[in-house]
Order: sequence, then structure tokens, then C-alpha cells
Amino acid sequence: MCGIVGYTGQNPAANILVTGLKRLEYRGYDSAGVALAERDATGTYTLNIIRRVGKVSGLESELNGHSSTSTCGIGHTRWATHGRPTQANAHPHISCDGRIAIVHNGIIENFAELREELIQRGHHFSSDTDTEVFAHLIEEAYEGNESSGIPATHKLLDALRIACTQVVGAYGVAAIAADEPGTIAVARKDSPIVIGRGEHGSYVASDVIALIDATRDVVVLEDGQFALLTPNKIIYTDDQGTPIEPAVTHIDWDIDLAEKAGYPDFMLKEIFEQPRVVRDTLVGRLTGAGELDIDELGLSFEELNLVDRVYVIACGTSYHAGLIAKNLIEAWARIPCEVEAASEFRYRNPIITPSTLVVAVSQSGETADTLAAIRDARIKGAKVFGVTNVVGSPVARESDGVIYTKANKEIAVASTKSFIGQVVSLTLLAMLLGQVKGKLTTGQTRMLFRELGDTAEHIQTILDTQQQAIQSAATACKDAPSALFVGRGMGAAVSNEGALKLKEISYLHAEAYAAGEMKHGAIALIEPGFPVIAVATKSAVYDKVLSNLKECEARGAKIIAVATEGDHEIEAIADYVIYVPPTREAFSAITATVPLQLLAREVARLRGCDIDQPRNLAKSVTVE
Ligand code: G6P
Repeated sequence: MCGIVGYTGQNPAANILVTGLKRLEYRGYDSAGVALAERDATGTYTLNIIRRVGKVSGLESELNGHSSTSTCGIGHTRWATHGRPTQANAHPHISCDGRIAIVHNGIIENFAELREELIQRGHHFSSDTDTEVFAHLIEEAYEGNESSGIPATHKLLDALRIACTQVVGAYGVAAIAADEPGTIAVARKDSPIVIGRGEHGSYVASDVIALIDATRDVVVLEDGQFALLTPNKIIYTDDQGTPIEPAVTHIDWDIDLAEKAGYPDFMLKEIFEQPRVVRDTLVGRLTGAGELDIDELGLSFEELNLVDRVYVIACGTSYHAGLIAKNLIEAWARIPCEVEAASEFRYRNPIITPSTLVVAVSQSGETADTLAAIRDARIKGAKVFGVTNVVGSPVARESDGVIYTKANKEIAVASTKSFIGQVVSLTLLAMLLGQVKGKLTTGQTRMLFRELGDTAEHIQTILDTQQQAIQSAATACKDAPSALFVGRGMGAAVSNEGALKLKEISYLHAEAYAAGEMKHGAIALIEPGFPVIAVATKSAVYDKVLSNLKECEARGAKIIAVATEGDHEIEAIADYVIYVPPTREAFSAITATVPLQLLAREVARLRGCDIDQPRNLAKSVTVE
């Protein structure tokens, strides 16, 4: 949530900052801004702060009108938490004298008290943000340090360190000072920071994607670590100011991941990557002996055998992957499984014993509610297994075991390929629990594993053959004020994800309903032309779904069905049919989701919506 970037080196900073911010824009796009250390004709440095409401492109146009020669600056793209998305609330924020500027990700929990105290000591605030207190705290420590003889090149870093001792909450923060041109001070607690040296200078960002053009060797700052960047070197310290030598991580993924590669938007590109995600997530997971091999499992088979209750906790799309997992875990391992929104779980008093397994699902691995729920579950004695897309993320670090979804970087805010990676990973976990509990033989596991792998090809078939059908269906419902997504069993779980996709990127109201429940209320909504989108793939409950659709048809609904190839019966009821290849019901969630992703995207495109950056949303939500 929010993105920060900083550069100091030999090249003009403004372009580098804007390029980095564009890469980070998926994390928030309510406003964007930069602070540049500019030298005037007399050789004096001042900080030039340029901020704009809205996307980074607005900031870029504004910067094009400035002829900045600055080679040191920091930038930020914001997702509003404290304070409306106005120019005054946009980062960077500055000290009273305008000589210190900072950008910040995270939340300062005690900002109200700090702000009050700072005002009493004579500070003037110009925004409603929690972040601004940081600028004033640094200012105080900076001035205070002047008289204490701290060497000039270390003053900003020391002031930042002192400010961090006063702040309660989460931060990734970068600061510059007009009196220390060419240096950037950085700190981290519970909010990601990566740092790297390139050929032409030093870089900092909240995500490696913003600096991968410059270097592939980065330091992932740990909580409580600090850094001072200068054009030619970077100094790292612990929270006492003692120099440290952090480990360097080599980034081996391709820069293409950060580009659209010819697709009109990242969402479409990521939907098309899904066959690869299925294959990569399965690589090396089945031994020659037919046993599942989850090397980051972190739990012994004895511990897993004791599990008598599973909670899947997650948010958003990840929660929907949990709904699918529940069906599989209960079917194959016969262990009761509940799925709960992490934001609810953490404030309830769920029944947790040492034999409870909590499965935390999070694409980003940093969602605040999911993390809080993990911590709570562990305190109560549960074992926690994480399913995440981000190696080394807080969810990975704080869980007993983890499985990575191998989706690679996902940039579109609406999650697609990560969801498929999560469903495949959770399917493996369900199979493993089935094996451990003695409910699945190695022969059955082998067969399931093979069929799970086949879904990669099935997805490709859908992508290759169903675009026309999806386009017609999208055209038919693009102007509807509302839509219902229905299904039963796996189809009901998938409907939730279909409805969410449509809502988040096309702004059409959509609701998911278990098809059998329609007659108890939702059917009242149906009038001629009302879109009902049905997951009607072949399954044990196919006939029941068909009956429910007939009830909708009788009331004039416009029916769009996702059905199994070769099913012609459905054509008599549905106005539009999108076909998916036949699979076992357990894997139908994987195939049936793909047309719904494409449908939502096509409706959004037809309605002229911003597909990759829907309004009000952000890719990772690090606030509760
Ligand atoms: C945000 C994103 C969703 C995502 C949810 C949970 O709302 O916009 O796409 O599903 O957070 O995120 P996580 O990273 O925990 O899966």
C-alpha cells in the first residue's frame, strides 16, 4: 500500500523517480509526488516539492514543465488512509522550515498524540496525514543534534533513528535534507524497503520492481535496520547506529514481468500467464513414490496427522481460494474446515487448540488483517501454514510452514494468476492432508496430481477458443445495473470470485449466490434482461443448477453459463454459453474461474474503466 522510491547519483533524478513510481503505482494511485534537492546559482540547496492528486502521469506532466537538474530525490505514490486524497495530503511531507522532506509507507499509530505534542512545541502542520509527524520529529532531532557534534554526513540518519524511537506503528521511510544534498536516509519497520547500487548511483524503493532496471543485487532491509545512501556508497546500520553488512539478494526474475509485453493491460497478460502458473506451482511436488513433497512445509507428518480442524483465513480474492480449499480438504482429508475473513477471525475468539491448523492465504504476504490473524492464532497455540506469492514476505516469515504460489509478480490490482496459484497450492495441501490422514492412496494422489496438471492445458484451451463467446456475453451485460453470479458446490465458491472481479474492475454491482438459495430472496431481483451468470459445469449437482436456471429463465433473466464442452442441454436455457474442457469436479474451480476473469475484464473494457488500476483499490492492504 503506497509506493516509495529514492535516487541519488550522477543522473537527473526526476525521470528515475517517475519511472520507479509508475512501476509502484499498483500499490496506490490517489496522489503522487517528489522532493528534489535543487542547487541554485549561489550554490545553496533547497528542496523542491512537486505533488499532484491522481496518477503518476499527472505528476510526470508537471515535472516536464520543470527543468530540474537535481540528482537526488525521493518520490511517493499514495493510497489514502489518514486524510483525503488531496494535494496537501500527498507525500512528500516537509518540516516546518521546508529543509527536510520524507516519504512514508505504513501507519503511525500514535500520530494523534505526537501531533499534539509537536504543535505545543511550535510546529505547524500542513496536512491531515499521520506521516507528517515523522517530518517534524526528524526536524527536531536534526536541529538538536547540530549542537551535539554529530558529523554532518550522519546527521540526517541519526535524526531519523531518533524519530523512529518515538513512533509506534509501521514504516518504510526515506528522508532527504537540504543541508545534506546527495544523501537519503532510510528506515524500516513492518513495511518493505529494498536498496541497491546501480552503475550511476544508489536506489531505494518499497518494491524491487522499481529499481530492477538499475540493479539485480539488492538488500532487503530488515525491521530495525537503517541505511544512508550517497551517490557512491551505501552505509547500513542497526537501530543503535552500529554499522552492519546485510545480505545481498539476487533478483532472478525477468524485467519482462514488469512490462505489458504487447498486451493492452497487465490483467490480460496475467490471465494469459495462468497455464505457466499451474505448471510452475506443481514442479517438483510429487516424488517418484507418489508422495507429495512440500519442502517449505515446516510441519512434520506427525503434527499434520494430529490436525483435527482447519481454518483458512484470508482477504478478498485469497478468501475465495479458501472457499475452494474447504471443499477439497473436507472431501479428501475429512477434516472440518472453516473459511473466515481474516478481519473477522482476528477479533473473534475462535476455537483454537494445538491440533488446529490455520492456513493463511495472501498473495502479497503483507495484508495487515491476515498478519494479525496469524499472530493471534499462533499465540493461541495453532500451527500456521502460509500460502503466499512473495518469498520472504511477513506471511512467509511468520508462519510455521509455507508454500509459494509461483505466480511471480502480479501487477494488475485485480488478482487473477495469483488466485489460480493459490487454488493449485491449496489443492496440494488438501491432497497432502488426505495422504497423511490415510484417506488418499499414493495411486489416487498420482492420478489427482496428473489431472491437476492437465488444468494448465485446459486453461490454454479456454484462452484460445472462448474469447468470442466471452465478448458477446460481455456486450450483453455491460449496461446492466447489477448481476447475479450463481452456482452450487465448487460453482458457488467460484461465483464469489466472478462477482468480485466484475465489481472491482467494471464497477457493476454484482452478487454471488448459492443457486439453491435464490428462491429464498434474490430471485425477486430478476426481471426481463437481468443478467444471471451461472457456473454450470458438469458435476454431481449439475441438474440442480439447471433447475435453478430454469427458474431464472422463466422470469426473463439473461443467462450466461459457463458450461462443460459438449453440453448442449444448457444451450436451451442459456442465452450465452462459454465452454470449458471437462475436468473432475474438484478441479472445475480452476477452469471455470478463467472465463469469469475474462468476462469481468471485457465488461470493464467496454465500459471504459481503468482495468489495471480500479478506483479506490490497492494491490496490498497494509492497514486494517
Ligand atoms: C486487496 C487486493 C485484492 C486481494 C486482497 C487480499 O484488496 O486488491 O486483490 O485479494 O487485497 O490481498 P492478499 O495480498 O492478502 O492476497
